[in-house]
Amino acid sequence: MQKKIIVAANRLPIEIIKTDEGLHFKKSPGGLVTALSSISKEFDLQWVGWPGISDLDDFMTEADFKDKLKNEFQSTPILLSKSLVNRYYFGFSNTVLWPLLHYLPNHCEFEEKDYLAYKKVNELFAETIIEQITDPENDLIWIHDYQLMLVPNIIREKIPNAKIGFFLHTPFCSIEIFKIIPHREELLNGLLGANLIGFHTYEYLRQFRDTIKHLLGKECDVDKVHLGTHSVKFGVYPVGVDVKQITDSLNSEAAKNSVKQVNRITKGRKLILGVDRLDYTKGISKRIKGYEKFLDKNPRFASQFVFVQIAVPSRVKIQSYKNLRDEIEELAFEINEKYEDENNPPIHLLFKSFDFEELSAFYKQAEIMLVTPVRDGMNLVAKEYVAVQKDKGVLILSEFAGSAGELGEALLVNPFNTDEIANALEKALNIFTWEKSRRMRSMYQKVSLNDIHYWGESFISDLTDFSSKEFHIAESTTILINKAQIDELVKQVKESNKTLIVLDYDGTLVELASSIESVKPDNELLDILNNLSNHPNYDLAIATGRSQENCDEWFNSLNIITSCEHGLKIKWKGETEWYQMLDNSEIDLSWHEPIKELLNKFCRRTPGSLIEEKESSLAWHYRQSDKELGKIQAKELVSNLSEMLANKTAEVLQGKKVVEVRIQGLNKGNLIKRINQLEKKYDSILIIGDDITDEDMFNSFPETAFKIRVSQGISKAKYHLNKVSDVRWFLTKLI
Ligand code: UDP
Ligand code: G6P
Repeated sequence: MQKKIIVAANRLPIEIIKTDEGLHFKKSPGGLVTALSSISKEFDLQWVGWPGISDLDDFMTEADFKDKLKNEFQSTPILLSKSLVNRYYFGFSNTVLWPLLHYLPNHCEFEEKDYLAYKKVNELFAETIIEQITDPENDLIWIHDYQLMLVPNIIREKIPNAKIGFFLHTPFCSIEIFKIIPHREELLNGLLGANLIGFHTYEYLRQFRDTIKHLLGKECDVDKVHLGTHSVKFGVYPVGVDVKQITDSLNSEAAKNSVKQVNRITKGRKLILGVDRLDYTKGISKRIKGYEKFLDKNPRFASQFVFVQIAVPSRVKIQSYKNLRDEIEELAFEINEKYEDENNPPIHLLFKSFDFEELSAFYKQAEIMLVTPVRDGMNLVAKEYVAVQKDKGVLILSEFAGSAGELGEALLVNPFNTDEIANALEKALNIFTWEKSRRMRSMYQKVSLNDIHYWGESFISDLTDFSSKEFHIAESTTILINKAQIDELVKQVKESNKTLIVLDYDGTLVELASSIESVKPDNELLDILNNLSNHPNYDLAIATGRSQENCDEWFNSLNIITSCEHGLKIKWKGETEWYQMLDNSEIDLSWHEPIKELLNKFCRRTPGSLIEEKESSLAWHYRQSDKELGKIQAKELVSNLSEMLANKTAEVLQGKKVVEVRIQGLNKGNLIKRINQLEKKYDSILIIGDDITDEDMFNSFPETAFKIRVSQGISKAKYHLNKVSDVRWFLTKLI
């Protein structure tokens, strides 16, 4: 059987045109289709994406539409209502992610509802992709671009051993900008669901790595991060163009006709060309200002050159895009007024899209190509120009385009400096022919070598390789509890005469807050706990590492079993006194003072960290500190502590954002000892916890107990729930 690749991108590679007669379908061969064309014989290639229309207008039923796309285009459409498109595509994708990834926060406007729509559409994509998977061990999933950043992890949670690749076609901005994005952590975790994440340049990779290090506090290798569940590899794959197809299009009929059109515009003048989507990232206004400066310095050139700017209308519903056309028209109008010579304006604007064949004629005729985006992931126009010119022409290229990394022989400019653009135009006119040719030939060689086919093949080959070699789902990795399992468990518990429910507190019932003081149980939680504890068939226990004082303050009004300080003391329901699980003779606290001194030292050098003192332990919390610094300091602290405690009766425990030193022999598993002492019997036991200290509970309770971890990871628990709110929702089902 052929191996399957499921390719998901915001847009399907199909153009659907609506006329009065009905819907017309046409393949739209973009870069991705070309990239995968050479491997499409080897693989069963299936596409998932938005078909670009929201309404079928009674021309077709949804089922017929889906059948047609599946059978004729190997595509599964994600049908989105207009309002979802507005919020997901125009909203969060293109008014938050696009401007910020391109370092342009002024164009960013955020609304929470847009993010919710983005999340919903990402979930729809993930569901549809999952429906296409027939063999999770072998099928490859390749997800594209910033519109789908959450998809990898949604799939990973449902299919832990899925083979997922993600490619980002935009830049990845620096952490200072990425931090602005609301829900930034969710987006990063979304991406980390992949096995392989590809970027156009090493700079983007480095910035992504730094961002996950600092914002998520993950320890990374140069090109990899190891998570509890799988490893994620980062790679650099600069996208290329199809040099052969480009050369062929030059000989097409359409290209020949287009030459006539170009000639009608140039009227014998030399052509300077710009080709872009009408997007503020492309630097079109600054480019026109640079051209104006060039003419101001050399007015005679106004009649010898014409600057043709092709600007393809794009994302027209967004205000920043609407303004752009007016701005550019105004600038061009002023310059044309200033320099107009016998109806031959020195700037000619074309606000339309050309087929590639037509476009190739423009490239061929252009003596100078101006590609000056203020930021661009790659910029294929620059590479297409090189592929067409081969050994002629001059490319003026922004140093902020990803392609500048490969096309160093271009005249590189800072697009913000319009004088530099003007100077580069002058320089372009003065370069010797042999020098022009040398530069262009060298670029052509690189563009031919690293073409679009190589890009697709190398990514797929690395994904296959890496996901088989490096991807080991540990036997002991939890799986997301599904609806059927929840129903079964609820049924079991409800049918039992006596059930013990043991819950950890921080990270399980309340989020890990940055201040340990701000995690008191809220009303919703108190209601849930109250209802569970009043249920005649349940015994409810909270097993926490917190102090007796905290527990007395928070849980005294509840009829529950409480275990505090990692099992040092346990208070049975109905009792008023705490029972201490160790004899006083077993409690040796001689280590307390020197260790406290050491922890103080770490507090001083780790801003935001603090010490919590309990009867049997000392905890150093760094929830409020910089994530990376906190981690580094914690590592050093643990190594210091291990030396200091070598012959002492205390042990070190590393939890989530906490290093704790406690009396040896204490752990949350003490609860089972107390149950045995009191000779309590249960037909079913349910335990939920999130941290390493909860693993002691999972370990000490019998195999038959139902054990759930909060968030996926390697654990003695079989199942996981994703987050605290899911735990609360789940508990309400038991009431
Ligand atoms: N393009 C086109 N017709 C046009 C203008 C542009 O087909 O009238 C194509 C161009 O050939 C290139 C793509 O649009 O392949 C633009 O890609 P690029 O990476 O430069 O920018 P993006 O639009 O992806 O930001
Ligand atoms: C960039 C993005 C692509 C996007 C393309 C066209 O290249 O990286 O994901 O498809 O622009 O933008 P549009 O919004 O029209 O799809």
